[in-house]
Amino acid sequence: MNERILITGGAGFIGANLAAALVKQPATDVVVLDDFSFGSWKNLLHVDCEVRAGSIADAELHAEIASGAFSSIFHEGAISDTTVLDQRLMLDINTNAFAAMLEASAASGTRMIYASSAATYGNAAAPNTVGGKEEAANIYGFSKLSMDRIARRWYDRHPSVIIGLRYFNVYGPGEAHKGSTASMMLQLYNQIMAGKQPRLFKHGEQMRDFVYIRDVIDANLAALKAPRSGVCNVGSGKARCFNDVVMNLEVQLDRKLDVEYFDNPFDFYQNHTEAEMDATRELLDWSPAWDLEKGMAEYIALLQKDINEPIEAIA
Ligand SMILES: NC(=O)c1ccc[n+]([C@@H]2O[C@H](COP(=O)([O-])OP(=O)(O)OC[C@H]3O[C@@H](n4cnc5c(N)ncnc54)[C@H](O)[C@@H]3O)[C@@H](O)[C@H]2O)c1
Repeated sequence: MNERILITGGAGFIGANLAAALVKQPATDVVVLDDFSFGSWKNLLHVDCEVRAGSIADAELHAEIASGAFSSIFHEGAISDTTVLDQRLMLDINTNAFAAMLEASAASGTRMIYASSAATYGNAAAPNTVGGKEEAANIYGFSKLSMDRIARRWYDRHPSVIIGLRYFNVYGPGEAHKGSTASMMLQLYNQIMAGKQPRLFKHGEQMRDFVYIRDVIDANLAALKAPRSGVCNVGSGKARCFNDVVMNLEVQLDRKLDVEYFDNPFDFYQNHTEAEMDATRELLDWSPAWDLEKGMAEYIALLQKDINEPIEAIA
């Protein structure tokens, strides 16, 4: 019998990339569920899967999961915009709906792989370690930390495996719909193509662990085989600064760029994120393979050809 895999948030950046990769696996049927509040149908144009418009909060979905309709779940559906400040809304969608899905998956013993976030760490000192300092500094980060805490309470009671993946700053094809919440790789590229100066918060020295979408897909596929439950980081394992992103754009576009630095308007801003990856290697038996130079070389080359759809959907 075929595997039947549910991907929530499957019209979004990471969900659609996962769907495009999974439909290529043998004996695998993919069901994408999205409420299309933010993701785009365009991400699924070349992905042959079953698409459903619906919410992760729907009781009918939870009943279907509890009945054992799916062999595994990749839960990517969420409010992914870290600047949303409505606490009730954020917790309703990100945390409560996840809790209900987890309970349903426990009833049927369905493996649950879900998206957590580096935002759980806030401005805790890097490198960021699961179970180390988790200082979420906005409601988005708190909603994800709450998901991890709920998941842990289920580890011993869940007949299958629950894996939380704390994604760091993901970039790559399929994120065009994200606008001002897309990666800085895409935002800076778009500014340059519009004939504008690339803009960065003063002085571009803030550090981020940028992780390429191919590594994120591979980490998820590894989580399908992980033998036990856990939460782990999904980053490149190295922090780089925003000036390094511009430097890579200069190399790829073969031109000198004059950056306009401006004041950061946010009172909260992560200054340095860096994923500790030993625990990830141990849990997933997987390590990242794409550094910033390699990831940006592939991504920018695709953007220059006007291609911005999930990487495995590109013909
Ligand atoms: N992209 C990153 O750098 C990053 C980093 C850390 C964590 N994450 C997490 O990874 C997951 C995927 O992120 P993404 O970058 O693909 O974001 P995205 O916004 O592109 O995808 C999220 C999808 O969820 C859908 N959605 C929102 N509310 C829903 C609901 N109530 N029911 C059904 N679908 C709903 C949206 O329409 C969207 O298609 C999210 O949980 C996000 O918080 C992403």
